[in-house]
Amino acid sequence: MIDDGELAGNNGPPLLAMKARFPDREVLFQQIWDPTKDDPNSFMPPFGKHGALTKSEINKIMDYLYTLWGINLWIEEISLKIVCFLQAL
Ligand code: HEM
Repeated sequence: MIDDGELAGNNGPPLLAMKARFPDREVLFQQIWDPTKDDPNSFMPPFGKHGALTKSEINKIMDYLYTLWGINLWIEEISLKIVCFLQAL
């Protein structure tokens, strides 16, 4: 990054708990292929429609997105931290 530059990576919502929030793969695919279909005002680039990414590339991105923390794992992690905290008292 350029000295005194700013990271510009916070425009969209956090991509967490994807399995829980996008159980239907087709819905997630559509969000990346063409977010403007559901929301004409979306400023997320329509990566598929504009030919920036192929179907196969989007599918690979989706495979990655689905590895991002499921909500259950998140709850387990928090519970573990609470148990450790209580044990340390
Ligand atoms: C490969 C890169 C990207 C992927 C995989 C991706 C994926 C996603 C996904 C899955 C959502 C839905 C999340 C949810 O509803 O919780 C979303 C929403 C959104 N993303 Fe992206 N995104 C990417 C790049 C971008 C970029 C570059 C921008 C902005 C310049 C952007 C802006 C947004 C916005 C504003 C939303 C909110 C919903 C909407 O307006 O459609 N995204 N993105």
